[in-house]
Amino acid sequence: MISFTFVQTTDMPEKSKIRLAVFASGSGSNAENLIRYFSGHPYIEIALVVTNREDAFVLKRAEALNVPSVVITSREWQQEGLIKNLFFKNNIDGVVLAGYLILIPQYFINLYPEKILNIHPALLPEFGGKGMYGMHVHRAVINSAAGKSGITIHVVDEAYDRGQIIFQRSLKVLPGETPENLAKRIQKLEHRYYPTVVEKYFTP
Ligand code: GRF
Repeated sequence: MISFTFVQTTDMPEKSKIRLAVFASGSGSNAENLIRYFSGHPYIEIALVVTNREDAFVLKRAEALNVPSVVITSREWQQEGLIKNLFFKNNIDGVVLAGYLILIPQYFINLYPEKILNIHPALLPEFGGKGMYGMHVHRAVINSAAGKSGITIHVVDEAYDRGQIIFQRSLKVLPGETPENLAKRIQKLEHRYYPTVVEKYFTP
């Protein structure tokens, strides 16, 4: 028996703005930043937060900011009809991934062609792919001879971390820099640029 939490699916929401869902698996600082940025926005709203973990801190952030949220486990993602119904009833137009660690199924990508964005905390196509998330990415960058890192915002398609890149910003890795420090500086770039890139991409 599947239970979706906090989502009201009985009434169709009014259709006036572009309604985006933000997917996050952990802390959700980017999710919160996006919700705050689009609060009161004329064309776009963050209408739903999706996570795969019941204990993800992003759920607390969503609740505090009055955004409906739903936990969808890996097993529930396999129930295509149910998932399609959930997104249809919530009138979701597009998806923004912000630290979401579950692979998006092909049927869902087909449902939202070129309407799913992701942010990666390095300069793709380097330092991406399976297992490259969080501190793993920053450690790999520091242990390489790259000398720089940054953020990549890209369209999500069937190839993991390989969809069309729409935005990058780079920074120099400092001499002797720790992965933790690099992560902090990259997070600042993410918070600064992700909302405006999402805004530009989804504004009709
Ligand atoms: C970010 O670094 C993002 O680039 C990556 O996952 C992290 C999520 O961080 N995909 P937060 O949960 O938004 O703080």
